[in-house]
Amino acid sequence: MKRQRALITGGTSGIGYALAHELAGKGIDLVLVSNQVDLLPVCTDEIQRKYTVACIPFYCDLSREESAAEVFAFCENEKLDIDILINNAGMLLFSEVTAAPVEKVRTILQLHMNTPVMLCRLFGEKMKTAGNGYILNVSSISSVMPYPGISLYGPSKTFMRYFTRALRNEMKHTGIKITCLIPGATATGLYDPNKVNLKLAKNTGIMQNADFVARKALHALFCNKAECIPGILNKLTVWLLPLIPHAFIQFTHKKTGWVKLGNNALNP
Ligand SMILES: NC(=O)c1ccc[n+]([C@@H]2O[C@H](COP(=O)([O-])OP(=O)(O)OC[C@H]3O[C@@H](n4cnc5c(N)ncnc54)[C@H](OP(=O)(O)O)[C@@H]3O)[C@@H](O)[C@H]2O)c1
Repeated sequence: MKRQRALITGGTSGIGYALAHELAGKGIDLVLVSNQVDLLPVCTDEIQRKYTVACIPFYCDLSREESAAEVFAFCENEKLDIDILINNAGMLLFSEVTAAPVEKVRTILQLHMNTPVMLCRLFGEKMKTAGNGYILNVSSISSVMPYPGISLYGPSKTFMRYFTRALRNEMKHTGIKITCLIPGATATGLYDPNKVNLKLAKNTGIMQNADFVARKALHALFCNKAECIPGILNKLTVWLLPLIPHAFIQFTHKKTGWVKLGNNALNP
């Protein structure tokens, strides 16, 4: 039987790297895409040593407009069929829109929306022709938080959530399974370890660990679930937060300055 192969963006750290280990443990070959030039060969070597799978690195800055086409061309040229596409790469930006560096605004929108959409477009068409495949898109519980300071992060993750649901509906009868992962706080490199005590946050249950999130995500994907929100607390959060009145959000923002708080606490 032909071996399966997964492509993971942002596969060298955090949730992406945990997904890589989970998939390799199931005997699935990998293509890891990342802009971590030094870390990429270290990660792919480690996975190949630990599991009996092929793990191929592809260096790419996914915040460039042409990046999705480059990733697709690489797989075509190397004759790497992709059975499982995982759009995971992301970045955290805590800032008011008008204070954010213009280049960062462009970067986060390209990384969270345009590039994953183009990857779904290119690999999705091939999967459709083949009549099977899996797509896992990573959103966030911030997708239900149109809040000050995460006005680019949250809504770009809302786009990812709704886009994934629409794509799933479109592809329902094609044999392709499409799932949106909606993680809550997860102890990864997304947070500055000098500002966030990741170990304490994990031990107190405020944050989940990336392995747990990856396991839940793949279970949901292979069971063809529309969405995966790991943990009961996160499920409650996604349900309850939209009930908070915007007047209350504006009031607390004015009183405490959410952006300053978030910046001090989170931004790497
Ligand atoms: N951690 C959380 O609490 C949390 C919660 C909800 C959703 N998420 C989402 O989960 C996904 C994975 O994040 P994580 O928590 O695992 O954080 P992470 O450890 O920082 O992983 C993000 C990955 O994306 C890569 N990436 C960022 N910009 C890139 C670019 N321009 N080109 C290529 N790769 C790029 C990163 O590489 P670099 O290190 O080089 O930037 C890194 O490998 C993200 O989409 C994030 O929004 C995370």
